[in-house]
Amino acid sequence: MTVALIIGTQWGDEGKGKVVDYFSKNADYVVRFQGGNNAGHTIKVGEEVYKLHITPSGVIQGKTGVIGNGVVIDPEILIGEIENLTKRGIKPKLLISDRANIIMPYHKILDGAEEQLLGDKKIGTTKRGIGPCYSDKISRNGIRATDLTDKKTLNKLLERIIPVKQKIIDIYGIDHTINKEKILDVYSNYGQRLKDFITTTHIELNKAIQNGKDIIFEGAQGTMLDVDYGTYPYTTSSHTIAGGSTIGAGIGPKHIESIIGIVKAYTTRVGEGPLPTELFDKTGEYLQQKGHEFGTTTSRPRRCGWLDLVVLRHSTMISGVTQLAITKLDVLNGLKQVKICTKYQLNDRKIDFFPANIEDVKKCKPIYKEFEGWGEMDKDAEKISDLPKEAQKYLKFIEKELQIPITLISIGPGRTETIEV
Ligand code: IMP
Repeated sequence: MTVALIIGTQWGDEGKGKVVDYFSKNADYVVRFQGGNNAGHTIKVGEEVYKLHITPSGVIQGKTGVIGNGVVIDPEILIGEIENLTKRGIKPKLLISDRANIIMPYHKILDGAEEQLLGDKKIGTTKRGIGPCYSDKISRNGIRATDLTDKKTLNKLLERIIPVKQKIIDIYGIDHTINKEKILDVYSNYGQRLKDFITTTHIELNKAIQNGKDIIFEGAQGTMLDVDYGTYPYTTSSHTIAGGSTIGAGIGPKHIESIIGIVKAYTTRVGEGPLPTELFDKTGEYLQQKGHEFGTTTSRPRRCGWLDLVVLRHSTMISGVTQLAITKLDVLNGLKQVKICTKYQLNDRKIDFFPANIEDVKKCKPIYKEFEGWGEMDKDAEKISDLPKEAQKYLKFIEKELQIPITLISIGPGRTETIEV
């Protein structure tokens, strides 16, 4: 039995989809525990490309996908993904937590309105209603999966919540009247379509653990977007770190045996907020083009920069990462020189930790260690020693600095372009 957790160590888009897919071959369950359809996980199998936003990646391998209570669900998107996969010959095995909160139409309206009002101080959200849905969950105004399956309960909840939401929408000055009857019809219809999947996933998962099943927890976004440990307020609204999995799926921390930190070989970020190693030059453009750094969810170009060890020290510590999976190493091919940030210069101090104060973060100047670049690498490389010497040196440095072993290296998008160490 193994219970493994896969999390992003940077600002999301680290290539978690491919790694989860890779590990899923041995898993019985693949579990999402936070986030919603703000995530975008791309899986390439042969010539087939699958882009999933809410369905756990493991369903592509025929595994049972679990959407835990910590996830926020847009039922329209989820039903669309189920239908799309079914059309492509994959009938997803899915379990949805009855306690998961539902993204409602007014959440999406409010996400857009808040961003618009913030103007050039906006967060740069995906406008999927994620923040407003989590806010309602915490302020106890949420609607949960279980409520969709019972029209009377749903009606009662909507009667309580909608007047408050309408008031907020009016204050924002948006010309929109929430149509309660329409929402009731549409969302109870979603409930009927999803009801066979909605269950007590926490009980199912704990039984699975007792029965020695293999379980993969699939993190979405990355540590630097965590609502507590990320670049707040430029974060998402959930706990993207390892701790989020136990709350977001209802399992005890003692069950998690390995915590795999996904590290993209360079750094990217989409949306606003500081990115200390950001490159504004031709190298940044090179990484963006070569790495196809455009959002899976919003198609926005991702900002690119060098690998940042201050970030990685922070994220691997908070989550107790036990092994590293390096992704997109091949994107660095062809660069004359590559750099890794080891510390920040903050005013007159050199620091090796990530500051909480966002104005301090904005002032941080990266201090780099330079490495010689390398040319192309063999796409069929099977072991580290098959990689160019300079690339090996780059990897060794990361391993030594973080004191965490690298156990997987991805050198291309395909399933086979992976080195297991
Ligand atoms: P939200 O999650 O839509 O509220 O967006 C908050 C911030 O998180 C924005 O900067 C988004 O660009 C970022 N974000 C949300 N989901 C992802 C993701 O899956 N990958 C990368 N960035 C994300």
